[in-house]
Amino acid sequence: MYNNPNLIFEQSIPQGKTGWRSPSNIALVKYWGKKAVQIPLNPSISFTLSKSYTETTVEYSPAAEGESAVQFFLEGEINEQFGEKIHAYFKGLDTIFPFLKQLKFTIRSSNTFPHSAGIASSASGMSALALCLCSIEQKHFGGMESKEAFFQKASYLARLGSGSACRSLYGGMVSWGKVDGRIETSDLWGTQQIKNVHPDFLTFNDSILIVDAAQKKVSSRIGHGLMNSNPFSAERFKQAQSNILRLMDVLKIGDMDEFINITESEALTLHAMMMTSNPYYLLMKPNTLNIIERIFDFRESTGIPVCFTLDAGPNIHLLYPEKVSSEVKVFIDDELKTFLHQSRIIEDRVGNGPENLNL
Ligand code: PMV
Repeated sequence: MYNNPNLIFEQSIPQGKTGWRSPSNIALVKYWGKKAVQIPLNPSISFTLSKSYTETTVEYSPAAEGESAVQFFLEGEINEQFGEKIHAYFKGLDTIFPFLKQLKFTIRSSNTFPHSAGIASSASGMSALALCLCSIEQKHFGGMESKEAFFQKASYLARLGSGSACRSLYGGMVSWGKVDGRIETSDLWGTQQIKNVHPDFLTFNDSILIVDAAQKKVSSRIGHGLMNSNPFSAERFKQAQSNILRLMDVLKIGDMDEFINITESEALTLHAMMMTSNPYYLLMKPNTLNIIERIFDFRESTGIPVCFTLDAGPNIHLLYPEKVSSEVKVFIDDELKTFLHQSRIIEDRVGNGPENLNL
């Protein structure tokens, strides 16, 4: 839909530099299952993180004929594998950005969080890169008439790199995927749900509890694919539609109990889908369950609104409003730290979305 043969340098090919900081996100209603090309089989909603982000700079200069190339540095070190992946991603964008083949690139990326910590570096990384590409277009061709158009295109491009990355383009709560009866939603890009969110949810903390830092054995790409033959997938996709509609209401009225219900059920359903795939697999660890049980007990005995969600991995995202953070910190120290890998916790919270580094 963004195909544009005019985005090609006709005379001189420029050189320049651009850069963006873009956050990761954590889903409340989970995207799990997709069809080509990166179209979700059910809608999802996430909140954007604040401290867990990627900073990416893109330097570009004229490529000699046929020499379009990408040099990619992660945390200051050349990473050829990622460089090749990005080059392949750029080639796939040829009809959207024909000018990419006229350039060669040096891309430098760094994350504020460690790899395999249960934070999606693909979401922050691909959204930062997509924003850099849109900035190059904007600088040399103009034409993206509004901020909305700019971010929508960046969200579309991020999605092509990594589905859930398209939700990282905005702050607060962001949905992705067509929700029945909600005309503002789309399978093609993320939509910010800012107008309808109760302030309590915009101060949410996310203490990311690292149970295991090892690389997961089954990638999300394989996991999505296994949903095509999962016997429960059709029901799951229906359930996600209804959960997201309920959650949108809950976010508006500030119903904390119902928020907890939907969020925890979604996390366990995601893992239930993994356990019922063929071949089946398990990404939770014993200490994931130990922590979940402690959370249930703590909430029941204190009434403090703290809950968990899980990504496609063993680590726990502990979610709670700012107003109960001192009690929750004591709970983490007294009861949960013992289950963590090297007592590792990453403290994050709901964030405001990407920032231009204005290079
Ligand atoms: O965007 P992907 O392909 O890495 O898939 C992400 C899937 C989950 O993180 C498990 C759920 C989600 O909606 O983010």
